[in-house]
Amino acid sequence: MGFPKDFMWGAASAAYQIEGAYREDGKGPGIWDVAVGKPGLIPFGETGNVACDHYHRFREDVAMMKEMGLKYYRFSISWPRVMPNGVGEINQKGFEFYTNLIDELIAKGIEPMVTLFHWNFPYALQKKGGWFNDASPDWFAEYTKQVVDRLSDRVKYWITINEPQVFLGSGYGRGNFPPFITGSLTEQFLLVHHVLLAHAKAVQIIRNHAKVTPIIGMAPTGPCFVPEDDSEEALERARQESFDFDKDFALFSNSLYADPVFLGDYPDRAYEIFEEATNIIKPAELSLISQPLDFYGANIYYSLAKPVEAGYPANCYQGNPKTPMGWPIVPEVMYYAPKFLYERYKKPILITENGIAGFDFVHMDGKVHDPYRIDYTRRYLLQLKKAAEEGVEVAGYMHWSVMDNFEWLQGYDKRFGLAYVDYQTGRRILKDSAYWYKEVIERNGENL
Ligand code: NOJ
Repeated sequence: MGFPKDFMWGAASAAYQIEGAYREDGKGPGIWDVAVGKPGLIPFGETGNVACDHYHRFREDVAMMKEMGLKYYRFSISWPRVMPNGVGEINQKGFEFYTNLIDELIAKGIEPMVTLFHWNFPYALQKKGGWFNDASPDWFAEYTKQVVDRLSDRVKYWITINEPQVFLGSGYGRGNFPPFITGSLTEQFLLVHHVLLAHAKAVQIIRNHAKVTPIIGMAPTGPCFVPEDDSEEALERARQESFDFDKDFALFSNSLYADPVFLGDYPDRAYEIFEEATNIIKPAELSLISQPLDFYGANIYYSLAKPVEAGYPANCYQGNPKTPMGWPIVPEVMYYAPKFLYERYKKPILITENGIAGFDFVHMDGKVHDPYRIDYTRRYLLQLKKAAEEGVEVAGYMHWSVMDNFEWLQGYDKRFGLAYVDYQTGRRILKDSAYWYKEVIERNGENL
C-alpha cells in the first residue's frame, strides 16, 4: 500500500516567475513583461525582469534539483522567448536555452516535464486581440509545432495550458490580471472555447509529431468542496458543488474546461449561462476539443467548504488556519479533489502543483528553517496517499515551487520555494523542507 512504485516525485516552476533575462538574446515581450510597469500594480514596483536569473543560472539550479533528489522537473517554455512575435520568426537563442536546460536535466537523471503556456502571452499577439482572435488556436498550434520539432526527442511529458481558470478568470473576467479585460458573458465563452481549441490542436500536434511517445495533459485548477461532515448527503453535496458554478464563478470552475476536454461537451450549466454558446461552437469542434489525454493535471492548494460563516468568505471562519497568501489550510482537499476528479474524468491524477508560501529568511546558523512547510506538505501528502490507497490512480506530485520566485501580483515577498533565493546576491540555499522532501522521495512517501 502507499504510493504506487513508479510515483512521479518532482517540483515545478514557470518561465516568467524564475527566468529573468526579459529582453535578452532576442526575446520578445509578453503581456506580463508589459503589465509589470503599471504603477501601483505590484508591491514596490517589482517585476520578473531579473527574477531568479534562472536563464543564466540554470546549471546551478539543475545541480540543486539533483541535490533535492527530484525525479521530475516541471517548467514552462516562454512563448515570446522562442517566438518573439508569437508566430513567424523563431528565436534560435531562446530555443538554445531550453535545449541546454533539458540536456542538463537529463544528464542529472531528472525527467523534464514541459508546460507550453504559463500565462506570459506574446504581446505582439495580444495587440491582435489575444485569445479573442479566432486565429489564436492556430497561433498556439504553430508555436507548439516549433517546440515539438526541437524538443520532443528528449521531452516525453507535456502539459498544454496552466490554470485557464486564473489567466481567463482574472485576466478577462474580473480584469485584475493582464490583459485587464472585463469581458461580457459571450466574450468569456468565446475565450474559453478558443483556449480549449488551442489546447486540442496542441495535443494533436504533440501526438502526431513527437519523436518520443508523449504523455500529455493540461494543468487546470478549480474549486473543490470538502464535505462538512461524514454523512453520505454531505459527500454528495461536496461532489456536486465541486463541478457546479454560477455566472460570476464560471471562468474559475472545473467543469467548464474539463467536461468538454474529458467528457466531450460543455456542462449544461454552461449552456444556461452563456446563451451564445451554441452559436459559437462550430460543428466538429467538440470532438476536436476532446482529444484523448493521458492524465488529469491538478493544481491543488485549498478548498471551499460549507456552511459559510456569516461575514466570512466561503472557506473561512474565525481563526481558521491560513497560509501567508490568506489561503485556508485544508489538507483534506488533497483527498477529495483527486477522488472527485478521478470519479468524473477517469484519468490518472497528476498533482501538477501544491505548496505553501512563507516569509522565509536565513537564520543565524545560515540555514532556512521552514517547519511549517514540512508540516503542511506532510499533511497534504498523507491525504493524497489515502486517496491512492483507496483506489484513485495518483500518478505523481510536483511541489510548487522548486525555488522562491515572482508570485505575480504579489511580487517577491511570498516565498513558495524548496530553495531560498537571496535576490540581492542570487545565492540559493536549500530550505529544511528540501532535505525533508528528498527523504520523502527516496522512501516513496513511506516516512510521512
Ligand atoms: C498557481 C500558478 O500556476 C503559479 O504560477 C503560482 O505561482 C502558484 N499557483 C502559487 O500561487
